[in-house]
Amino acid sequence: MRVPKQITILGSTGSIGRAALEVVAASPGAFEVVALSALSNSTLLAEQAARFGVQRVAIGDEARSADFPPGVVVLRGAGALDDLAGDPDLDLVLNALVGSSGLKPALAAVRTGNRVAVANKESLVMAGELLIPMASVTGSELIPVDSEHSAIFRCLKGTRRDEVDGVTLTASGGPLRGMSSEASATASLDDVLNHPTWNMGRKVTVDSASMFNKGLEVMEAHWLFDLPYDRIAVVVHPQSIVHSLVRLVDGSLLAHLGEPDMKVPIQYAMFYPDPPPVAFGRCDLGAIGGLSFEPLDEACYPCYGLIVEAGRIGGTAPAIAATADEVAVGAFTDERIRFGQIASVIEATLDGVRFAPADNMDHILAAEDEARVYALGVVAQLAD
Ligand SMILES: NC(=O)c1ccc[n+]([C@@H]2O[C@H](COP(=O)([O-])OP(=O)(O)OC[C@H]3O[C@@H](n4cnc5c(N)ncnc54)[C@H](OP(=O)(O)O)[C@@H]3O)[C@@H](O)[C@H]2O)c1
Repeated sequence: MRVPKQITILGSTGSIGRAALEVVAASPGAFEVVALSALSNSTLLAEQAARFGVQRVAIGDEARSADFPPGVVVLRGAGALDDLAGDPDLDLVLNALVGSSGLKPALAAVRTGNRVAVANKESLVMAGELLIPMASVTGSELIPVDSEHSAIFRCLKGTRRDEVDGVTLTASGGPLRGMSSEASATASLDDVLNHPTWNMGRKVTVDSASMFNKGLEVMEAHWLFDLPYDRIAVVVHPQSIVHSLVRLVDGSLLAHLGEPDMKVPIQYAMFYPDPPPVAFGRCDLGAIGGLSFEPLDEACYPCYGLIVEAGRIGGTAPAIAATADEVAVGAFTDERIRFGQIASVIEATLDGVRFAPADNMDHILAAEDEARVYALGVVAQLAD
């Protein structure tokens, strides 16, 4: 592996992307940032390009301009992210895009055989059936960034496969934990965005409140660790200190504990297979005092059940559910629908759009397009 590692960060202006650049800054000489991208925050993108001496940037919103440093190549339009992700001269692509925008760049990176640090779980959820077999052909390694999957990835190192019974993902319970389903159905945007332990982007914060995010993570674990759904469990753990667990056949558990700081799993994925050198906070159990666990009450979180069921169905069902959620979350954050109606949009879209096999990108993109149109129609009716 080269030192410095040549790394491209897609979605560098977002919560994960900014944290990844903090990791770069904390380890001088370890990384050379080759390319960065944003949708519309061109001002921050230009600052990042100047600070990290980046050669290429991609900006999704063609109308945005900014003072990029001289010599920086600015790519625009469809295909720019695929070009960056598919650059064969990279050591690592961090896919920190949000929602379905991460799908095609993930495919481009995997097709090239690049190692991918996967923050964008939606790409695995929507196209795991395509990406995982392709990765095994091209030699592309997928390293998890989600704290839960990073924890499992670390616990699985040095564990024999026949020792593993399954995995348990922890869930903080999100900002609405303890609320009745009637009260949470009308929760305000401020309440939903007020996550108790993690500071994240808007979509993933809303998805955490609805537990849709946990369902996406169940599917992500299914693909990353090649586990059937009935061997993936979820437990609520409000302190977010135990990041997840591996269950062994003898009934015991392996856990990974740490402060809830995304720089920890991001750094792990960026340095992999080398050990991460920087301590971003130290986990002091004496100061934390107590750790608690409770079962997930699925009845309070209809979005969780819908996405996990879509995962079990397979084919394009997960892509349809993920797209419907993206549309519904957008409508909720624009204050056009209520929080409780996110599940209604997903359910109606799953009922209304035909499923197909997800064995090629055209099927997945067609399902995404159809689901988006359908979900927008459902939102329009609900918002009337
Ligand atoms: N945040 C966390 O702590 C966390 C934890 C675990 C997993 N994740 C996952 O990591 C991914 C990123 O989450 P995040 O919270 O960092 O998201 P975020 O803060 O919303 O950032 C998203 C990034 O993607 C860019 N972007 C958004 N829409 C785009 C589009 N249509 N085309 C191209 N670029 C686009 C944004 O650019 P602009 O800034 O210009 O809008 C930004 O750079 C998600 O899949 C999330 O589930 C996040």
